Amino acid sequence: MLQGKKVLLVVTGGIAAFKALDLVRRLRERGCGVRAVLTEAATQFVTPLSLAALTGEKVHTELFSLTDEAEMGHIELSRSADLVVIAPATANILAKLANGLADDLASTLLLATDKPVLAAPAMNVRMWEHPATQANLATLRARGTLFVGPNEGDMACGEFGPGRLSEPLEIVAAIEQIFGGYGPLSGKRAIVTSGPTYEAIDPVRYIANRSSGKQGHAIAAALARLGAETVLVTGPTQEPNPTGVTVHPIESARDMAEACTAALPADIVICAAAVADWHVVAQSEQKLKKDGKGKPPALKLAENPDILATIARAGKKRPRLVIGFAAETETVVEHAKAKRKRKGCDWILANDVSPDTGTFGGEANTVHLITAKTAEDWPRMSKAQVAEKLAARIAEHFSDTETK
Ligand code: CTP
Repeated sequence: MLQGKKVLLVVTGGIAAFKALDLVRRLRERGCGVRAVLTEAATQFVTPLSLAALTGEKVHTELFSLTDEAEMGHIELSRSADLVVIAPATANILAKLANGLADDLASTLLLATDKPVLAAPAMNVRMWEHPATQANLATLRARGTLFVGPNEGDMACGEFGPGRLSEPLEIVAAIEQIFGGYGPLSGKRAIVTSGPTYEAIDPVRYIANRSSGKQGHAIAAALARLGAETVLVTGPTQEPNPTGVTVHPIESARDMAEACTAALPADIVICAAAVADWHVVAQSEQKLKKDGKGKPPALKLAENPDILATIARAGKKRPRLVIGFAAETETVVEHAKAKRKRKGCDWILANDVSPDTGTFGGEANTVHLITAKTAEDWPRMSKAQVAEKLAARIAEHFSDTETK
């Protein structure tokens, strides 16, 4: 997939810069050409010489280098590759890019390029969480910059949290996905719902559930990896946006329904969100106050639209494959079979969400795939594996129905 592709790798100055060497090695193993640019700070962590040895190319560090300009101008360099990858991407380079600063070779190239840019951020957790960094990320995402990571874990500075550079193979996978564009699901459009919904009581309180969004996000990522043009409509979660997926963040079930309708038509819809069944009628515009007499406010609830059932019964606009989840705590398969019929979907993935299974919020899932004809028990596996297996089954389904 990467054979013959060209990547311009911008290495910025962070302790994780040493991983750029392994990234180059992994890309070269796959037949991908790499040209590297280092910021001045990056040269404190890796030497131009080691990158030149691994890339087999001249490494560029300075904007005003006459020999470089004679051989290749910085504008040309910025456009010489199919993709620009910033790894590691410091808070500083993201801030520069978000604000259009161009005061060294790396930032100038990033401003001048007309190629897609993939950034793999790495920084201290507090720097990552700082509103300035988060605002820069939002700006860059809105402009189409792609991101991989950061991962959560122990950091070189002794703290714990999000901010670790993605592993080189994760960055390679993100690059492959960008170059992918083909795969068994290319030409298909998919909509995935994920996470919980928040139903507001007043401006500060809401009703929600424990869904982490891990399963829905993993499914969206797996579909995109197989080449599907994927839209993820998600309630609030801690999960990073999957690479190569268009993400629509929402809060309430009614917003989720609206975003899904707007994203139609689609070939595939997978409703993995834990949608709240009810919303609060006449949500208070002001924060509710205690009445001083110990009488709690009476919350009047009304049913939310059933997104899955609405899409499954959309008549001519009905996607060809509509898949739901059935979160159950008892007689899982029987309840799910009835739910499949009631909702009108093609397949349903039934999972036991009793507290002792650890499914809600956890890493693993035990599911049963129920179709009109069969009920299969899948072994317990990670949510990422469930997503891979489901995406592969979907690809198989389309290849079967389209060759018939
Ligand atoms: N779902 C939806 N819209 C809703 C409620 C549920 O799209 N308003 C979808 C979920 O995303 C899931 C499926 O319907 O794919 C089943 O969700 P579940 O919570 O198991 O079922 P409910 O419809 O809520 O039924 P019950 O709570 O009565 O079991």
